[in-house]
Amino acid sequence: MALKITVIGTGYLGATHAAAMAELGFEVLGLDVVPEKIELLSQGRVPMYEPGLEELLQKHVAGIEGSSGRLRFTTSWEELGAFGDVHFVCVNTPQKHGEYACDMSYVDAAFASLAPVAREGSLVVGKSTVPVGSAVRLTEVLPDGVELAWNPEFLREGFAVQDTLHPDRIVVGVESERAEKLLREVYATPIAEGSPLVVTDFPTAELVKTSANSFLATKISFINAMAEVCEAAGGDVVKLAEAIGHDERIGKKFLRAGIGFGGGCLPKDIRAFMARAGELGADQALTFLREVDSINMRRRGHMVELAREALGGGSFLGKRVAVLGATFKPDSDDVRDSPALNVAGQIHLQGGQVTVYDPKGMANARQVFPTLGYAESALDAVRGADVVLHLTEWREFRDLDPAELGAVVGQRVLLDGRNALDSTLWREAGWTYRAMGRPAA
Ligand code: UDX
Repeated sequence: MALKITVIGTGYLGATHAAAMAELGFEVLGLDVVPEKIELLSQGRVPMYEPGLEELLQKHVAGIEGSSGRLRFTTSWEELGAFGDVHFVCVNTPQKHGEYACDMSYVDAAFASLAPVAREGSLVVGKSTVPVGSAVRLTEVLPDGVELAWNPEFLREGFAVQDTLHPDRIVVGVESERAEKLLREVYATPIAEGSPLVVTDFPTAELVKTSANSFLATKISFINAMAEVCEAAGGDVVKLAEAIGHDERIGKKFLRAGIGFGGGCLPKDIRAFMARAGELGADQALTFLREVDSINMRRRGHMVELAREALGGGSFLGKRVAVLGATFKPDSDDVRDSPALNVAGQIHLQGGQVTVYDPKGMANARQVFPTLGYAESALDAVRGADVVLHLTEWREFRDLDPAELGAVVGQRVLLDGRNALDSTLWREAGWTYRAMGRPAA
């Protein structure tokens, strides 16, 4: 009999994992403690923007015409416990308020609810990003006969479906052959076709996730540090990244200089990692991450200063600033720790009249920063602006017509915070184009 799968927590990770498991042919039951989310998901809809996810849900959620009917959602722990052979825990692990450490309260609550209802012989699989040592601790919470495995997830927002169905690798931390066998069954083809499966112990599985994110963050801060040097020396960081990226040992990816990384993962993961290393007495090993964080945060301030400079120096008071982009990256509506919104907010708090436009992030941006100005299109945002800031590299912005915007803007001055626009095109249309880590003209 095919395994029955449950997924606990229905954010980016959980909703995508549940839909992907149904796509693979499993019967799946998803649980969330927020009834509104369950109601929405039961109609095959998602509370966030994630390309391809809604289509996949529509294909499998029970009750939708023409669906496979393999995917259902519930708020009932009893129903979940009775149903599942394998329970995936996919709840959020945000940064603690006012601290660097990871907030484990959602994970702890999920295990506390699951422990009394999980059937004997079932397997609990942690997917959330947690401080190393959590899995060993959580084993104690589960009753005898219910085993634990740790299986970190590496999906990127905007590519969640693709990354889940075709992962670069699958990492499973296990303590028994039975757990490994069960997980191999879950990840049998086609999902694991061509994806290496790495079997480890608990601490290594937990560490793979945090170290991968730390490496990615380091790569971005490295190129941003080079951007600072390029600016001082008159070099071009885009050319530099291209040139060093040809060395396969370095690689081309994650070398885009700009206003730096944000989002719900990289910033909080490197901080939680530092905090955990401190608890373990290994803080020295990760002091470099403090520098990675510091370079990253400096980028936001630097963008604000470039904007000030472009406006002739001095105060932002009375100046109109258009901001293109609010999300932490394109193809997502997520504004958590978004560098774009942070820059917009800083200028606003210094008295600038800021108008923001983002293709998908407007509702979330309005919620976290209601005092900023918002426009319904890029054209409306730049109308009458003294300077235009390009802060999230949406395709829509690359396709903008510089002449059309030039006709309505106050001053044709564009600062590209993502090194993503075609400088020649904008300059030919009469704009002063300036990017981070590149020569002024
Ligand atoms: C990240 C990891 O990539 C993923 O494997 C993990 O599971 C979760 O965290 P995500 O947060 O979705 O995924 O975004 P990612 O694509 O990694 O981008 C993170 C941030 O870095 C964005 O703000 C992006 O704009 C920035 N970035 C990325 C750069 O500034 N330069 C780059 O070259 C790449």
